[in-house]
Amino acid sequence: MNTAIFSAKKYDREFLNAANGARHELRFFEPHLNEETVSLAAGFEAVCVFVNDQMNAAVIATLESLGVRLIALRCAGYNNVDLSAAKKHGITVVRVPAYSPYAVAEHTIALMLALNRKLHRAYNRVREGNLALDGLVGFDMHGKIVGVIGTGQIGTVVAQILTGFGCPILAFDPFPNATCRFLGVRYVDLNELFAESDIITVHCPLTPENKHLINGQALEKMKNGVMLINTSRGALLDTIVITEGLKSGRIGYLGLDVYEEEEDIFFEDRSGLILSDDVFARLLTFPNVIITGHQAFFTREALLNIAATTIDNITKFENNQPLENMAG
Ligand code: NAI
Repeated sequence: MNTAIFSAKKYDREFLNAANGARHELRFFEPHLNEETVSLAAGFEAVCVFVNDQMNAAVIATLESLGVRLIALRCAGYNNVDLSAAKKHGITVVRVPAYSPYAVAEHTIALMLALNRKLHRAYNRVREGNLALDGLVGFDMHGKIVGVIGTGQIGTVVAQILTGFGCPILAFDPFPNATCRFLGVRYVDLNELFAESDIITVHCPLTPENKHLINGQALEKMKNGVMLINTSRGALLDTIVITEGLKSGRIGYLGLDVYEEEEDIFFEDRSGLILSDDVFARLLTFPNVIITGHQAFFTREALLNIAATTIDNITKFENNQPLENMAG
C-alpha cells in the first residue's frame, strides 16, 4: 500500500524500511500529521503515525476526502485519534498493542532508582571532581510500598520487577489480572493507593475520563515526600498542580517520560532555542525531578517489534485479512 509515514525520524526509516522490504511503498515525512500538514497525505491510501500526531475530526474528514483508508499507529496508545470520527468516515485504525512492555517497565524502574539514589546529581558531581556524599542519601527500595495504577502489560512487568526488590505492591485497575494476584499484588481503591504508597507509578491509557487523574485532591491524599512516576501519557497528571506539589515538598521525587504539552517540545533537538513553555522550564529547575523525552519505548527490541507489527497491520488491511490490532 502507498503509505505516508508522519513524524518520521532516522530510526523510523531504518526499522520500517528493513521490516517492509519491497512490500509497500513507504514515503517518509518529518512533520507531525495535523490540520496544517494533512494535505501531505494526498495520493496515499494509508498514513502511519506516532504519539504526537493529531487525528482529530477535522484531520480525519480531510484524510477521507484525500482517499486515505487506513491509519496505522506505530504505538500502543490511541488517545490522539478521534475513533468515532474515523468510524464515521470509514477509516480503519490499527495500532501496535504490544511491542515490549519490558522496555517501558524497565525505564520506569530506571527513573525510580535514579531519583532515589540521585544518580543524575552524582554523575555531574563526580565528573567535576566532587566526591562528597552530602545531599545524596537515598532509601532502600526493599519494603517500600509501590502503588501501580493500571496493571496491563506494562504495569504487570513493573510489579514483577518490584516484587524482586521486596516492595509490597498495591494496584488499582478496573480489570485486575491473575498474574498480579499471583505475585501478591493487592488491588485496592485509588484513595487507599494514594494514602499508602511511598512510590506511585502510572500505567493506564489516557482517556477523556481519567485526564488529570493525579490532581490536587489526589495529591492531598498522598504521603508527604511521595515519589511519582509517569511513563504513560502526560495529561494523566495535572502538571501545574504537580509543580505546586514539588514547591511545597509534598512530592519528594518526580520522574516523567511524558508531558502534557510534549507535542511541541519532545523528539527534537531544541538545545539552541528559547524554551517558551514556562511550566516545563520550571520543572527542569527542581533537583528532584528527572524528565526523559518519551524514550521509555526506545529499545532495539521494541523498535523491531513496532516496525514488524506496523508492516503486518498494513499488509493484512490491504489483503482484507482479519485485523487483530484494531484500536478501540
Ligand atoms: P494495557 O492496555 O496492556 O494496560 C492498560 C491497563 O490500564 C489495563 O489493565 C486497563 O484495565 C487499565 N486501566 C484503564 N483505565 C484505567 C484507569 N482509569 N485507572 C487504572 N487502570 C486503568 O496497556 P500497556 O501496554 O500496559 O500500556 C499502558 C500505557 O503506557 C499506554 O496506554 C500508553 O499510554 C503508555 N505507553 C508509554 C510508552 C512510552 O514510551 N512512554 C510506550 C508504550 C505505552
